[in-house]
Amino acid sequence: MSTHRLPPLPGPTTASTTALTTTPTTTPTTTRAGARTGRSVSALICAVAVGAATACAPSEGAVVTPSQAAAVAPVTPGTSKSTTGAPGIGDPDFPDDGNGGYDVQHYDLRLSYDPASRKLAGSATIEAKAAQDLTSFDLDLHGLTVSRVTVDGGAASFDRSKDELVIEPGKRISNGHRFAVTVDYAGVPEPMHDSANLGEYGFISTADGAFVTCEPNGAKTWFPSNDHPSDKATYDFRITVPEGLTAIANGEMTGTPQTKAGKTTFAWREKHPMASYLATMTTGKFQVRTGTSDKGLPIYVAVADSFRGSLDQLLTQTGKITDYWSTVFGPYPFSSTGGVIDDYAAGYALENQTKPIYGGFSPEPAIIAHELAHQWFGDSLTITRWRDLWLNEGFATYAEWLWAEHTGQGTADSAFKRLYANAADPMWAYPPGAARADDLFGAAVYNRGAMTLHALRREIGDDKFFPLIRAWTDAHRYGNVTTQEFIALAERISGKDLKGLFDAWLFQPGRPAPLAGP
Ligand code: TRP
Ligand code: ZN
Repeated sequence: MSTHRLPPLPGPTTASTTALTTTPTTTPTTTRAGARTGRSVSALICAVAVGAATACAPSEGAVVTPSQAAAVAPVTPGTSKSTTGAPGIGDPDFPDDGNGGYDVQHYDLRLSYDPASRKLAGSATIEAKAAQDLTSFDLDLHGLTVSRVTVDGGAASFDRSKDELVIEPGKRISNGHRFAVTVDYAGVPEPMHDSANLGEYGFISTADGAFVTCEPNGAKTWFPSNDHPSDKATYDFRITVPEGLTAIANGEMTGTPQTKAGKTTFAWREKHPMASYLATMTTGKFQVRTGTSDKGLPIYVAVADSFRGSLDQLLTQTGKITDYWSTVFGPYPFSSTGGVIDDYAAGYALENQTKPIYGGFSPEPAIIAHELAHQWFGDSLTITRWRDLWLNEGFATYAEWLWAEHTGQGTADSAFKRLYANAADPMWAYPPGAARADDLFGAAVYNRGAMTLHALRREIGDDKFFPLIRAWTDAHRYGNVTTQEFIALAERISGKDLKGLFDAWLFQPGRPAPLAGP
């Protein structure tokens, strides 16, 4: 379990022990051409449009609806005449992920989990809007046994093929129409075992429940979904577990848990759009505490019994750091904040929406700062394609440097310089602007991504950099984003041509020239 992503900042805030553990990148296989392929056209369109108006950003701070999000999503393969929804949403690096032909608006998940038998039983209702005429469409589902599918209440036939659940409704769904598909299913969930340096993720059963962390495509291990971040939706969860256990999902509880015949049902609602990889149904024996931050934001924290001693600290730090980030990044996007420490020793953390989860360790403030920064960068503003992952991890890593600055434990500049000094670092061979499917969470995406932001800050100055960050989170709140949109906004706000800077830092193999100045 080597770690990679954090700057060796001085003092106890060094957070390098709890990053997602991946082996450091060693193979510089991304070529210049490869890294640039497919980007130049949209770059041009976006740069021109933003120069003239703000066509790349939703106007007037409007909430981006799922269908608007789909408009910036990769084009779905297939012709307009086809009435078969595509088996993938069009991510060039993850061609089977997600599905084409519709946009999900809402997931209503009724789930029951029995840790003793490890059996999950679910009924998922997915409300969606057709983006083409559909005689059949897919959902993503990994393992589990489907017993029944209905579309708008009528029986639908279905078929399984690898991780695709292919559904044929009784009658054709017309383009633009809303429909509801209900899938009843059960079985013992199997997590994903990914070869791409990701280890195990998805629904992972534990001694007393489940540890559920789904980035990038593990939501399909526990519910049928359009499992790709370019199709965000709102969620309702009703999770039933044996009495004495706690079920934790995203958003807020919509009532007090109900116990009947030895089982307790927890109802949670995430009313803001959420990517499937940020959904969770973590369950087990937990100590729970709720509170309110100084700025009045509700906080929910839960820790496994063995982390009982960290409960108060997690509550306090989470409130403090969420409040602080809202002064730096712009208003907090969700209705509550929080965190979960499970005793499953994953060794990593994930930024589950409203409730980051820490797998088997008590997080240092720098890690909490990282995961809470993701609430803006990743959760509220969500990438459209996985290759733009630096927009999540580069920003969250940079947030750790900002946290160090804020707490007087180092500067972003010293973190940058320390990394820059190592000319032999393999990250110089990996342009982070094109995160690789076979090494998605590589060190370059985190560290060189953060360095890109620092190079930008030095180039445009703090008086443009911080307003840019707030304009970014404001323009795309709850939406989907691309790197080209960020570059265009940075150029607009700074009034500078920044193409050379971003090209060198994000898209070229090799160590960029040193920053000007001391
Ligand atoms: N995004 C996580 C972070 O904060 C890392 C991560 C990627 C992860 N995939 C995961 C964590 C799967 C848990 C499970 O850096
Ligand atoms: Zn992260």
